Amino acid sequence: MSEKSMISSKLLFYTITVSTLLFIVSSLFFLQRSDSSFTSSLVRKLILPSTDLKNEQTDAKPVSCGVLKVFMYDLPSEFHFGLLNWHKKGSETWPSVKNVSTVPSYPGGLNRQHSVEYWLTLDLLASETPEVKRPCSAMRVKNSKEADIVFVPFFSSLSYNRKSKVSGNETTSVDRLLQERLVEFLKSRDEWKRFGGKDHLIVAHHPNSLLYARNSLGSAMFVLSDFGRYPSSIANLEKDVIAPYVHVVKTVSNNESASFEKRPVLAYFQGAIYRKDGGTIRQELYNLLKDEKDVHFAFGTVRGNGTKQTGKGMASSKFCLNIAGDTPSSNRLFDSIVSHCVPVIISDQIELPFEDTLDYSGFSVFVHSSEAVKKGFLVTLLRGVTEDQWRKKWERLKEVVRYFEYRFPSQPGDSVDMIWSAVSHKLASLQFDVHRKNRYRRAEVFERSLST
Ligand SMILES: *[C@@H]1O[C@H](CO)[C@@H](O)[C@H](O)[C@H]1NC(C)=O
Ligand SMILES: *[C@@H]1O[C@H](CO)[C@@H](O)[C@H](O)[C@H]1NC(C)=O
Ligand SMILES: *[C@@H]1O[C@H](CO)[C@@H](O)[C@H](O)[C@H]1NC(C)=O
Ligand SMILES: *[C@@H]1O[C@H](CO)[C@@H](O)[C@H](O)[C@H]1NC(C)=O
Repeated sequence: MSEKSMISSKLLFYTITVSTLLFIVSSLFFLQRSDSSFTSSLVRKLILPSTDLKNEQTDAKPVSCGVLKVFMYDLPSEFHFGLLNWHKKGSETWPSVKNVSTVPSYPGGLNRQHSVEYWLTLDLLASETPEVKRPCSAMRVKNSKEADIVFVPFFSSLSYNRKSKVSGNETTSVDRLLQERLVEFLKSRDEWKRFGGKDHLIVAHHPNSLLYARNSLGSAMFVLSDFGRYPSSIANLEKDVIAPYVHVVKTVSNNESASFEKRPVLAYFQGAIYRKDGGTIRQELYNLLKDEKDVHFAFGTVRGNGTKQTGKGMASSKFCLNIAGDTPSSNRLFDSIVSHCVPVIISDQIELPFEDTLDYSGFSVFVHSSEAVKKGFLVTLLRGVTEDQWRKKWERLKEVVRYFEYRFPSQPGDSVDMIWSAVSHKLASLQFDVHRKNRYRRAEVFERSLST
């Protein structure tokens, strides 16, 4: 390179550096002024963490504390705790969560596996209740303009489970009426209009919940169990969050978990064997495995004392089969995790909770359906796993169990805490999307920030 061109390239380098610095400084100035813009509040959080950083440094839980600001609509109680027979007194909209023993309780039984909405709502209420100790990964804010995300407190799974039957002289189910009212309500709100609902969070964990409203509200971020009954335009990994089922069997404590030699059953499956859609594979596997001596493959429900039996069965098995049913996911996966029974996942369309932070291959075995139905393939594979290999997965299972527990009050790293952090991660791609849409709308964004 000649001397002259070196000088000119140095000059170029300095010019670029200086102008970049000037650009950054001026953008910061502009961003700080446009406080009301959703985009800029996110940007501030991501590249200008000045105020948050101060809080974090003095706090016990530095990484995620207070990251997610959530605005929650004060929907009438029939959309949420009213479905649990909670009766409001006077003008209150929400039950008090100050005293854990007087919080409206969620009934046991099968409804419970989809109770995600209940735990998230309680946690937001607790975020304004200093008496409750909880991780501060999300907090409720009263001003929607300050919020990163708008939470819609509709207990959609409970509404489906309890109110979807047309009864007596009704012509439309209560579940459907609530959904219609919800759509009408949201579409009329400024918060919804701002970004076409993209910054709204709606929980629809039961595959049949929100059946009538899901298409109209599809721009929102959903919390789901899987995408089995959704077209990909309405629900997809780009924008939605997969949450665990609430397990129905009891968690085995780490010190009581049976080791390899104390688990006589090689592989365990108990459930409905004849399923529609993707579930026909259960029948094929049943025919292949029913005569294997160390395999438990049986029809069973969780009614009666089925849950207890299933828990015992899983806790004394090395591997637990999770086979696609009429939806790709089921609570069985989470039951096997809390039983420390290594999950064998045979469900090609399954999406797994928290896969952005968790590597399931560390504690599970994945088998393609096409391979699982080959004669002898599955038992040969599982018998070939050495005690050492199995123990590694078992040890990892004992570590990850905490991610699959829903609690009130929430604890660091439990399902509630993990869902909030998954929502925070999704916001980054939402921001990307908003930016792309804004490419040719600079004037509009500029005007809005000037007017506030
Ligand atoms: C919480 O409620 C229970 C049951 O009503 C009551 O016995 C207990 O004293 C309350 N605890 C506090 C701290 O108020
Ligand atoms: C439906 O039945 C209930 C009693 O079960 C009655 O109170 C109500 O008025 C009836 N509604 C209509 C529209 O007939
Ligand atoms: C195992 O630990 C739990 C608490 O974590 C305790 O309640 C239980 O008694 C322990 N069991 C044994 C066998 O040590
Ligand atoms: C409960 O489980 C026991 C075995 O643990 C079984 O003998 C009994 O029939 C079961 N009862 C019901 C109602 O399922």
